[in-house]
Amino acid sequence: MRVDVVTIFPEYLEPLNVSLVGKARARGQLDVRVHDLRRWTHDRHHTVDDTPYGGGPGMVMKPEPWGEALDDIIASGAPAAPGEPPARPVLVVPTPSGVPFTQTLAVELSARPWLIFAPARYEGIDRRVIEEYGEHLDVYEVSIGDYVLAGGEAAVLVITEAVARLLPGVLGNAESHRDDSFAPGAMADLLEGPVYTKPPEWRGRGIPEVLLSGHHGKIARWRRDEAFRRTARNRPDLIERCDPAALDKHDRALLAELGWEQRPDGRFGRTAGVVEE
Ligand code: ADE
Repeated sequence: MRVDVVTIFPEYLEPLNVSLVGKARARGQLDVRVHDLRRWTHDRHHTVDDTPYGGGPGMVMKPEPWGEALDDIIASGAPAAPGEPPARPVLVVPTPSGVPFTQTLAVELSARPWLIFAPARYEGIDRRVIEEYGEHLDVYEVSIGDYVLAGGEAAVLVITEAVARLLPGVLGNAESHRDDSFAPGAMADLLEGPVYTKPPEWRGRGIPEVLLSGHHGKIARWRRDEAFRRTARNRPDLIERCDPAALDKHDRALLAELGWEQRPDGRFGRTAGVVEE
């Protein structure tokens, strides 16, 4: 996968040289290119922002440098094979007003061969840039959470790491994202439960017996129960949204024990009057 990032703070993207993403780059699984937006300015001060039309606080990123940068980067994409049309990147614009970044979106982006990130500073990028490229490319405006950062660069780091670890061969063990919280599949929409390693006793604390039993069925059931307990406690919205058809008798009994009941529409809701421990 190729990833281009256009930013006024290229040094902010240094963490892409480290750890999982850094190793994927070194192995040639990920081709990351970070560009300084100011390269595409033509005035003495390398101006990338201007005052907003209509007034108001803050500054807006000018369309011209973005247009020139994106045109150059898009034009640098070689065709997948001779005679084929040039590769078409996806444009990812991090913004608090975008669609929520989820594991589903990470999976979707990981299937695309080329992502271009356009992280904004100030009050954002002139809207016409998004409109212009939206005519030819898939453009995703993405938020990493309901809070406002000083710029989109931290979101680029988050999204790139979540996407890179899904690329074939990037994680050591091909199975290791199967049980992730939010991974599509049997444990969909449950948070991952607790994990333990050696020593078997630490500061007087042991580990759950079942994990030593070698009984795979019992261990899987225990993990699922713990996932339900944690999800009910930390993300009750996920229990409310979960598909009742994905639950077996044991799951239902556990939810009842945790103070959840099935509503007439089949969905789960908290039993009235039950106070959480
Ligand atoms: N830029 C500023 N805040 C952001 C957020 N929450 N998500 C993505 N990009 C942002």
